[in-house]
Amino acid sequence: MVSQRPNYRKWSKNVINFIVLYFNNCCVHGFRFVVETMLLLFERFLWLVLLVVSIYFCIVVCLSSVDRYYTKSTHIGVERNYHFWNTTIPSLTVCPATRLNVTYFADYCRQMGIKGSKKDTLWDFLENLANSTYTNFQNIPENAEIDEIIKEIDLKPKQYMELIYNLTYDRTYDPNERQRTRCFDGATKIHARQVLTEWGLCYLTNSELGKDYSARYFIFGKYPEPNTFELASNTVDFMFGTYFSMDMQYTFLGFSSDAIFSFAHSAFDVMKVDASFGYATEGVTYELTSREVISEENLENETTVTMRKCRFYHETNLTHFPFYTRNICLQECRINLAYKICKCIPHFYPNRISNPKRVCDYKTLRSCFPRHESYFLQLYESDRKEESQFPCYCEQNCRDSVVTIRSAHQMSGSKQLLGGVGTSVQVRSWPKSRLKRQVIFSMTDLLVSIGGTAGLFLGFSVLGFVEILYFFTMRLFWQILGYKL
Ligand SMILES: *[C@@H]1O[C@H](CO)[C@@H](O)[C@H](O)[C@H]1NC(C)=O
Ligand SMILES: *[C@@H]1O[C@H](CO)[C@@H](O)[C@H](O)[C@H]1NC(C)=O
Ligand SMILES: *[C@@H]1O[C@H](CO)[C@@H](O)[C@H](O)[C@H]1NC(C)=O
Ligand SMILES: *[C@@H]1O[C@H](CO)[C@@H](O)[C@H](O)[C@H]1NC(C)=O
Ligand SMILES: *[C@@H]1O[C@H](CO)[C@@H](O)[C@H](O)[C@H]1NC(C)=O
Repeated sequence: MVSQRPNYRKWSKNVINFIVLYFNNCCVHGFRFVVETMLLLFERFLWLVLLVVSIYFCIVVCLSSVDRYYTKSTHIGVERNYHFWNTTIPSLTVCPATRLNVTYFADYCRQMGIKGSKKDTLWDFLENLANSTYTNFQNIPENAEIDEIIKEIDLKPKQYMELIYNLTYDRTYDPNERQRTRCFDGATKIHARQVLTEWGLCYLTNSELGKDYSARYFIFGKYPEPNTFELASNTVDFMFGTYFSMDMQYTFLGFSSDAIFSFAHSAFDVMKVDASFGYATEGVTYELTSREVISEENLENETTVTMRKCRFYHETNLTHFPFYTRNICLQECRINLAYKICKCIPHFYPNRISNPKRVCDYKTLRSCFPRHESYFLQLYESDRKEESQFPCYCEQNCRDSVVTIRSAHQMSGSKQLLGGVGTSVQVRSWPKSRLKRQVIFSMTDLLVSIGGTAGLFLGFSVLGFVEILYFFTMRLFWQILGYKL
C-alpha cells in the first residue's frame, strides 16, 4: 500500500507529461496555448473554453452532415430534354370472366369419377372459386352437395389454386394463331403471359417485370416453359416510343370468354384489383399517357433503401413474393391483414414459403371476407366508431411510371372485327417531362463536409488524425521504453 502511492504519482506525472508533449506538438492550433507555461492561468483557461466550444460546434455540424447523408441525400428532379427519351407504353392485364376449360374439366371428372348433377355442381363451384376476389366471395356457392364432392375428391384448401391452374387452359400457348392469346402492333409481336393476380389467373402484356411474375412461378416455383410460337416470331417484351413516334398502339386479344375485365397500369408494376375498367362484353380501347420516374445510375450503389426511400425490382423484403413492386407490397399487406382478421389467406396468393400460412376454405371465404371488403381493398377502415388504418408501409418503386387514362370506352362491334374479345391501348401524346431520382449528397460529399467542418473549427486534417494515432501508439511505446524524443 505504502510503496504503491509514489509509484502511482510517478505514473500519472508521466502521463500528464506525455499529454503536454502531444498538446505542444499536435496540429490542432489552440492546444499549445493551453499548456503554455509562459501564459497566465486565466489566458490558458480562456483557450481551453475556446477549444471546448470549437469542438462542440464541430461535433454538432458533423452530426447534422451525417443526418443529411442518411435522410436527405436523394431528391427527385425534373428532366425536360424529352427529345432523347424512350418511354415505355403502359401495361395491360386482362382477366377473362369465364375461367375453366371444359375439356380439362371433363377429363378431371372422368379421372375422379364425378358424374351427372355432381359434375355441374362442381363446375359451378370451381368456376366461381376461380373467378373470386375480394368483391365477390359471396358468389361462391355453398351447400351440402359441394361438401360431399370435396370430400370425395379430397380437395384441401391449399390445393384450390393448383387445381384451378390445372383446369385452366393457357391460351398463350395455343398452336392456332387466330385463337392464341396474343398481343401485337402491326408486325411487332409483344410477349403475353399468364399471371397469378388477386383475381385468379389473368394475362399480362407489355410489361417490364421479370419472368418470376408468372402464374407457374408463383404456384410451382418454376419459370414458364419457353413459348415456341413467340420465339419463332421474334417477340419483344415491351414497346416504347419516343417523342417523335406519334401514335402508338397495341391490341391484346384471343380471349375465349364472353366478357373480360381489363386493367391498364404502369409497365413497372402489377395491376390493382380495384382499378378495373369493369365488365366489358366487347373490348375496351384505352387512350393512355405515361410519365416515367427514373433513377440516376449511381442511385442503387451509393444509397441504401432507407436513404432513398424506394426499392428496385430485385430488392425484395417481402415474404411471399420473390420480387418487389409497390402493388405487390400492398398485396402482402392484404395477406397479413387477411391472416389477422380471418386467420387464413385466400387461395390466390403464392404461399411457397418455409412456413406456409393456412389457406382459407371456401366457407371462410364466404363468411369472413365479404364483411370487411372495403377494409381489405383500401387497407383502411372507417365504418366503425374509430377510423383505423392497417399498419402497412410500402416504399415506392425506384423505377416507375405514372399512367393517366385519358379515355377508356367499350369498343362496339369489335367481336366480329377481332374474332373475339380484345383490348387495345393507344398512346397519342408523349410526356415532356419526367422525374429522376438523384443522389445529391454522396459518401464523398459527406467526407468532404466532415473534413471541411473539422478544418474550419479545429484546423484538423487527415494527417492530424494520423498524428494522433502515431502519438498514442508508436511514440507512446518508445516513451514507455524510456526513449526521449
Ligand atoms: C432508345 O431505344 C433505342 C432503340 O430503339 C436505343 O438505341 C436507345 O439507346 C434508347 N435510348 C435510351 C435513352 O434508352
Ligand atoms: C366473375 O366475377 C365478376 C365480378 O363479380 C362477375 O361480374 C362475373 O359475372 C363473374 N363471372 C362469372 C362467369 O360468373
Ligand atoms: C380447352 O383446351 C383445349 C386444349 O386442350 C383447347 O383446344 C380448347 O380451345 C380449350 N377450350 C376453351 C374454351 O378454351
Ligand atoms: C395438377 O397437375 C399436376 C401435374 O399434372 C399434378 O401433379 C397435380 O397433382 C395436380 N394438382 C391437383 C390439385 O390436381
Ligand atoms: C420491408 O421494409 C420496410 C421498410 O423498409 C418495413 O417497413 C417492412 O416491415 C419490411 N417488410 C418485411 C416483411 O420485413
